[in-house]
Amino acid sequence: MISKNQNETCLIKGARIASFNKEISGSIKDVLIKKGRIAAIGDIFEPAEKVIDGDNCIVAPGFIQTHIHLCQTLFRGLAEDLPLLDWLKKHILPLEAAHDPDSLYDSARLGLIELIRGGVTTFMSMETVHNSDSVFQAAVESAMRAFIGNALMDMGDDVPSNSKMTTQQCLSESRRLIDRYHNSNSGLVSYAFAPRFVLTCSEELLSQVASKAEELGLLVHSHASENRAECALVKRTFGVSNIEYFEKVGLAKPYLCLAHCIWVSPQEMEILRRNDIKVLHCPGSNLKLGSGIADIFTMKRMGVKISLGADGAPCNNTLDPFNEMRLAGLLQKLKYGTDAISAREIFRIATLGGAECLGINAITGSIEIGKEADLILIRADRPHNIPNDETDIFTQLVYSTRADDVIMTMVGGKILFENNEVIPFDEDEVKSAAGKSLNSILNRIDL
Ligand code: GUN
Ligand code: ZN
Repeated sequence: MISKNQNETCLIKGARIASFNKEISGSIKDVLIKKGRIAAIGDIFEPAEKVIDGDNCIVAPGFIQTHIHLCQTLFRGLAEDLPLLDWLKKHILPLEAAHDPDSLYDSARLGLIELIRGGVTTFMSMETVHNSDSVFQAAVESAMRAFIGNALMDMGDDVPSNSKMTTQQCLSESRRLIDRYHNSNSGLVSYAFAPRFVLTCSEELLSQVASKAEELGLLVHSHASENRAECALVKRTFGVSNIEYFEKVGLAKPYLCLAHCIWVSPQEMEILRRNDIKVLHCPGSNLKLGSGIADIFTMKRMGVKISLGADGAPCNNTLDPFNEMRLAGLLQKLKYGTDAISAREIFRIATLGGAECLGINAITGSIEIGKEADLILIRADRPHNIPNDETDIFTQLVYSTRADDVIMTMVGGKILFENNEVIPFDEDEVKSAAGKSLNSILNRIDL
């Protein structure tokens, strides 16, 4: 069924196109959308139900953020100046444990508004242990493409007691959420298992997740090798390093998506490559938590698939995909020289690379005929974007453009953001509810 903001046909007229096809990349084209898919690219004179003026704009594939935590959006700015393990123990795990269904719903809606405004069309989010229905509900309302999973934690001294479940409880909650939400909202919403990280998951839980993911064809989303103290603790506890441990428990598979992967040895990189494990690069979070610089230059050259994510709001403190692209490019320049990774490659990682990591590159991630119209329109005529037509389009997108240059976001042909309005949500209501929810959380805990 076509809804109010989805037209049978839509024509984006005369925008510069951020295409990976070198023949048309950067030139002015029209993009015709029919029934939610890209139907034609070129000089199009066919009438359409809705015409969007792309003059002085760039039309680009929507961003795909493969690692975020919508449940943490409310905690932006509340856990500052700490390294990972203290940041988790002192603030994030207790704050997450104090969520109730309403506060989770508000946290997720706030994050989704920021993502939609920034031109993100697909995301993968790790939630907290309980009440993930609230986040699935918000994702369904957003009409975005979403991969969501409840955090699985069945061990760990620092995990609050009400957040730790037994192995069986973890698996049965996953099963309940899969039955309820996987492949829901016309296929836009998927479930992805989310064992939080090696330090909070028993070997039994990880190997059970491996066999369930294999059986059901689902992704597994986790954190690995983010921080030196975390890596040392993993080695001390399990006798092997993070990536080796994932291999030992049977999770070294193409469906495994690992955030961070900063402190990985050449042997571990080889495990990533050999098993087609996906790396979710989070440069903003890696800097803010002082974790380190991931060597995506080497991993990419080896053939490891890389994508980008902002991580949670309290370790970044923004969900802006342009910020992640810029940092990803700048950090590799610092480490490997100015020509380490081109702007085109960085933009590809932020879009098609994300789709490859999530296994959806056949349907989204680039502007190609037949793909879903997951598209954004970006103003390119503001002073910080000039000169415009003369500049390489990817250089402009990665190094000059900002989230507030996005003027339209569309998923599967449905417009989610236009005329400065986020259509699925009442932004003022969400902001006010978020403030009240945070107050109630802070009243429930004593940090
Ligand atoms: N490792 C385990 N949990 C988390 C989390 O919530 N955020 C980050 N950045 N790292 C983690
Ligand atoms: Zn994370």
